Amino acid sequence: MPYYRVVGEVPRKRHVQFRRPDGGLYAEELMGEEGFSSDSSLLYHRYLPTAIVKAEAVTPTVETRLEPNLPLSPRHFRTQELSSAGDLVTGRMLLAGNGDVRLSYATSDRPSELYRNSMGDECVYVQGGRVRFESTYGVIGAGEGDYVVIPTGTIHRWVPDGQVSVLAIEAAGHIRPPKRYLSQYGQFLEHAPYCERDLRSPAEPFTVEGEEVPVLVRTRGGLSRLVYRNHPFDVVGWDGYLYPFAFNIDDFEPIVKKTHAPPPVHQTFEGPGFVVCSFCPRPLDFHPESVPIPYNHHNVDSDEFMFYVGGDYSARKGSGIDIGSISLHPAGFTHGPQPGAVEAVIDAVSRGITTTSEKAVMVDTFRPLDLGQGALSCEDTGYAWTWSR
Ligand SMILES: [Fe+2]
Repeated sequence: MPYYRVVGEVPRKRHVQFRRPDGGLYAEELMGEEGFSSDSSLLYHRYLPTAIVKAEAVTPTVETRLEPNLPLSPRHFRTQELSSAGDLVTGRMLLAGNGDVRLSYATSDRPSELYRNSMGDECVYVQGGRVRFESTYGVIGAGEGDYVVIPTGTIHRWVPDGQVSVLAIEAAGHIRPPKRYLSQYGQFLEHAPYCERDLRSPAEPFTVEGEEVPVLVRTRGGLSRLVYRNHPFDVVGWDGYLYPFAFNIDDFEPIVKKTHAPPPVHQTFEGPGFVVCSFCPRPLDFHPESVPIPYNHHNVDSDEFMFYVGGDYSARKGSGIDIGSISLHPAGFTHGPQPGAVEAVIDAVSRGITTTSEKAVMVDTFRPLDLGQGALSCEDTGYAWTWSR
């Protein structure tokens, strides 16, 4: 996706004979998007990536049913109340979703099994803890504040070092940096809030020996488990534009205005039917008469799903929202700061406060979000009425 990289050993030309030390051929695998018409990488395996010995259907262990947001309401979900339901893949508690994206929360200290999501890219935000992301491309060490973006079809697993909590954003397509920040050839432009140097990707191949290795595979049809004859982590080298990478929210360089800037300045990624935004600590708006807090707004084409991950989010003061909370402000409802929040922030500015410490991850979807059982099980049902107090 982001730019050309080469890791490990690759032959001088693509699609030529590339031999192992024992004289046998490495097996080439092209991972490519949009039917040979978009970004791709070529991986070189010790063993055939096609060799499977068994396939079985798998029943999900957590509830994946969604129900409409009816009666239409702004919602507050307290992920602080959710406990582990498995590993960071099978234990994902579905919070919200639609045909474009599924949003889940998971917390776990156990390694996941090998997993391949063949429905779309994933962007996994690490809320807390340290975790090792292992994949056919190599390893990425991730921790608090990292977005780990995983291309469709990448076989990988999560190995936590202690308790790890994540928000999993599962797309039905590809997740990319916003197009307006890229040159026509894909380089980040100077006005972009981050660039290539901020992206971390595997630096060397990662190989594991093993036979009869199960891989959980998610497709539109459901979940399956395929057993591979040899361990899929057998890649000695790869090159291309398509690979997993991590980006830390603290490396996002906020864009500020003299008066209040709307969320597109916080946009970090885009996917089909949604965007991901990072609200980061930054200077407050600096017009002498500015109201440095969001104005009431009704984004008629969006549902706003906001995960509060750090600092103090002044617009939500008095609403019960805390670190670990998620608010959902759907289309059909005009939302804005809680009563008294505007006056409080103007007062703070008059006392010399010039910065905000807020940190939040927002997913704006262009189709309504339905609600999952994970969210409904930790809902603060009084939230909708907090503007009327
Ligand atoms: Fe909003």
